Amino acid sequence: MKRALITGVTGQDASYLAELLLNKGYEVHGIVRRVALEDPVHRLWRIRHILDKITLHAGSLESYASIFNVVEKVRPDECYHLAAQSFVTYSFEDAFSTLNTNINGTLFVLSAIKEKVPECRFYYAGSSEMFGHAKTTPQNENTPFYPRSPYGISKVAGFDLTRNFRESYNLFACSGILFNHESPRRGFEFVTRKIAIGAARIKLGLDDELRLGNLEAKRDWGFAADYVKAMYLMLQQDDPDDYVIATNETHSVKEFLELAFACADLNWKDYVIVDKQVYRPAEVYLLMGDYSKGKKKLGWEPTVRFEELVKMMVDADLKNGEMLRSHT
Ligand code: GDD
Repeated sequence: MKRALITGVTGQDASYLAELLLNKGYEVHGIVRRVALEDPVHRLWRIRHILDKITLHAGSLESYASIFNVVEKVRPDECYHLAAQSFVTYSFEDAFSTLNTNINGTLFVLSAIKEKVPECRFYYAGSSEMFGHAKTTPQNENTPFYPRSPYGISKVAGFDLTRNFRESYNLFACSGILFNHESPRRGFEFVTRKIAIGAARIKLGLDDELRLGNLEAKRDWGFAADYVKAMYLMLQQDDPDDYVIATNETHSVKEFLELAFACADLNWKDYVIVDKQVYRPAEVYLLMGDYSKGKKKLGWEPTVRFEELVKMMVDADLKNGEMLRSHT
């Protein structure tokens, strides 16, 4: 039985990845912060349904010793490093902790693997935010990085560390350059979920407005459950490599908004307030990924497109009245 270790196991992607690996017969281990173990109702909701099938270990990306101990104990065959401070806005508010957690955290995981289980295959969660203010569209594996936020900068550093460990120590280390990926399990701070919940709360009479930032930004949005399949496939190849994972479509926040509110039979213009306070100090205006390398080498393709994704998210939140009432 293969053993997988997932950092950031309480997150959206990890919840889908853990399900996928369990279905494939893996023994699944996850690293969580101690605070999450102490508050399972609020922090473990995405993996509640599989808690009896996976093993959780307390650890922190801020402590090499804690990461080292878990890697030594689990001795994984595959490690999926998904943990990070992943909210771009917050990275402007606290660049220090974002850079510290994301860069050192990646270095700690890579170093522990190199020391204890150098044969372990390693996946790094890179991001389309690394392209930032990209000079060309669509972006592929050869597009130069031009990050526009401390978060994007931290992800570029993690990407470089991953490549460096591959080249220096012969680790089977891969980076997925994943474009935005969403689902009904998306965190509430990200724009897609904020819109889906906003539309549902307005529909249920719980709110009468929704405050958003830049509606003109364009993103390539896919479905998270599709994207974790690509992570898995990267680690099953003969050689380690880096891959763009995307849908090759781009849509504005405004398009998402229009469609989401229409799914709830609402007109967004009656409720949405554009608030300049929500704008970012530096914006990434346009992202669209060319996933042809992943399609050719991994045989990967997205199965859920934009319209279906928006509908899936709004429908899920409309059905979730109890959660909406407690959400502020
Ligand atoms: N969060 C948020 N909230 N974003 C808003 C809002 C708002 O009220 N209004 C407009 N936006 C715009 C942002 O300015 C940005 O251009 C876009 O919506 C998407 O923002 P997010 O959903 O926060 O995602 P992101 O693109 O910054 O980053 C996400 O995707 C990356 C992959 O490209 C995160 O998941 C990152 O961790 C991930 O790496």
